[in-house]
Amino acid sequence: AIERTFSIIKPDATERNLTGKIIDKLESAGLRVIAQKRIRMTREQAEGFYAVHKERPFFGELVETMTAGPVVVQVLEGENAIARNREVMGATNPKDAAPGTIRKEFARSIGENSVHGSDGPDTARQEIAFFFTEDEIVG
Ligand code: CMP
Repeated sequence: AIERTFSIIKPDATERNLTGKIIDKLESAGLRVIAQKRIRMTREQAEGFYAVHKERPFFGELVETMTAGPVVVQVLEGENAIARNREVMGATNPKDAAPGTIRKEFARSIGENSVHGSDGPDTARQEIAFFFTEDEIVG
């Protein structure tokens, strides 16, 4: 089925001017960018977006890295977009990521892993609504 998923190009990637190379990987995987904006995430936004990880030991570092520079937030659409995006991103830890994936090619570490993508249909809906209004999404 045609799905929508939510994606972030993280500060470690925007800092190295990798936005275009990452979008190329997404588009080459059959995903269509139907909404996109470059923003500086506030501490409140980062804490709210990642609230599910609040009790994790890496939460503080996660909020720091996500607010360290600009990010590009996106809505991606395509056949099985959620799984397809996870495939092209590769494993959370770049050490475990398959060859050719975004994280294998670009990520510096588990914390600076270049991209985020929704992990399922419910989180995709929530995450899209966290950053985009319906009129900003042009499918
Ligand atoms: P992301 O998909 O954005 O979701 C949560 C993020 O926490 C994850 O990618 C990683 O970048 C970050 N993170 C930092 N340390 C860890 C860790 N030890 N385990 C899992 N995620 C981590």
